[in-house]
Amino acid sequence: MAKGWRTDQKQDYYFRKAKAEGYRARSAYKLLEINTKFNLIRPGSTVLDLGAAPGGWSQVISQLAGPSSRIVAVDIQSMAPIPGVQVMRGDITDPNCTGRIQEALGQDADVVVSDAAPNVSGIGPTDQARSIELAIHSLGIALRVLRKGGAFLVKLFRGEDFDNFVSLAKRYFQTTRTYIPEASRKESREAYLVCMGLHEKFDLDALRELARAYGLRKRPK
Ligand SMILES: C[S@@+](CC[C@H](N)C(=O)[O-])C[C@H]1O[C@@H](n2cnc3c(N)ncnc32)[C@H](O)[C@@H]1O
Repeated sequence: MAKGWRTDQKQDYYFRKAKAEGYRARSAYKLLEINTKFNLIRPGSTVLDLGAAPGGWSQVISQLAGPSSRIVAVDIQSMAPIPGVQVMRGDITDPNCTGRIQEALGQDADVVVSDAAPNVSGIGPTDQARSIELAIHSLGIALRVLRKGGAFLVKLFRGEDFDNFVSLAKRYFQTTRTYIPEASRKESREAYLVCMGLHEKFDLDALRELARAYGLRKRPK
């Protein structure tokens, strides 16, 4: 009871803060915190924001990257415009989505962030499997659009496939760090994986490996 009360108070805190400071979502504070720690988004960065609606992260990216940046935001749902951000409606699990993103970016990205999350069913294994699926699609897109040395930030849910996904990401990036922001709800199983220093720009072997990774775990029906 007491713990729940404290959690509610904290949710209220970030919710109120977001409202007062003009952010569309309390999740904006998670990205601000992650960026303070890892310095992923810098002035002039080219950034791809996957699972971007309603746009809290895109607002933060726009502030951090500034006027000389290139920012593309993608979501399966519609999203109201943000100055300096190109909003694209698209499903990141659709194979045609990557080509559209590349066209919108017009150049390699410095950073890809993915806060994409499924509609929560409340059934733990199902939610986790869907979350990993979105994370794998996000990684697949990141490997195709990032420049060598680029960074990838992705939301995951802690569970059975978490370690497998981290091992997979480690093959492509120099460093990977798991981070749980203060602004994440304490009862949530979410964690963020920060991957820095892409070894090589995307190659076909990476795609084949990722295709095999879809068999990380059979999805519950
Ligand atoms: C937690 S919200 C993102 C919040 C966002 N970072 C912000 O700060 O406003 C997760 C988003 O993932 C999106 N999403 C889920 N599945 C997707 C898919 N297959 N393709 C694109 N977006 C997807 C949802 O529509 C939802 O808007």
